[in-house]
Amino acid sequence: MLSIAVSKGRLLDSFIEILEKSQYPCAVLQEETRKLVVESPQAGLRFILAKPADVPTYVEYGAADLGVVGKDTLAESQKNVAELVDLKYGRCTMIVAVPEALGIKDVAQLDFNSRVASKYPHIATEFFHNRGIQVEVIPLHGSIELGPLIGLSEAIVDITETGRTLVENGLMIIDEIMESTSRLVANRVSLKVKRTEINRLVQAIEGVL
Ligand code: PRP
Repeated sequence: MLSIAVSKGRLLDSFIEILEKSQYPCAVLQEETRKLVVESPQAGLRFILAKPADVPTYVEYGAADLGVVGKDTLAESQKNVAELVDLKYGRCTMIVAVPEALGIKDVAQLDFNSRVASKYPHIATEFFHNRGIQVEVIPLHGSIELGPLIGLSEAIVDITETGRTLVENGLMIIDEIMESTSRLVANRVSLKVKRTEINRLVQAIEGVL
């Protein structure tokens, strides 16, 4: 049996749809339950219901053979896992944004030691370091757009999908860092030990995509 770490939430339905079309029945994932591990014996899959940011950790340590996680979260985690398939859903862009009222058009215009709030502190730090811009990155866990609104930070690094949260909070994009979609990732040892089962699943999913 293969174990897959997935996270509950709006993107899980997209993965369920792909699995079902790939002939891996997983109705068990749609059942109303508080269980954290559920199995689909017909599909030969065991699902581990984890928080998104923890998925790369379960996979790196081999507690799960596979995982489904956004490229943004994967990059931020800095975990050593193998990226197998771009699942193409959950598309979003990681951006740098500032209040429109600041009148800034470029990250280079940020003041020395500007504060930047982010749920992606590693990515944000690396981005500004590579540009040679000295900032202070302030890690937050969510609702990042609040940062500039209440004077915590001058800028944010966050993901945007429709752009609505930025607009409604008076923020404008001044740079784009990366595009992100959901990815199927694997533990590097599982990839060798369970190669046949993993290859079969990957091929079925790629066929559907
Ligand atoms: C994400 C992101 C933005 C919002 C962007 O937050 O951090 O806040 O979605 O979406 P939009 O461009 O379509 O408006 P999420 O809903 O994951 O919650 P969080 O703020 O608690 O991280």
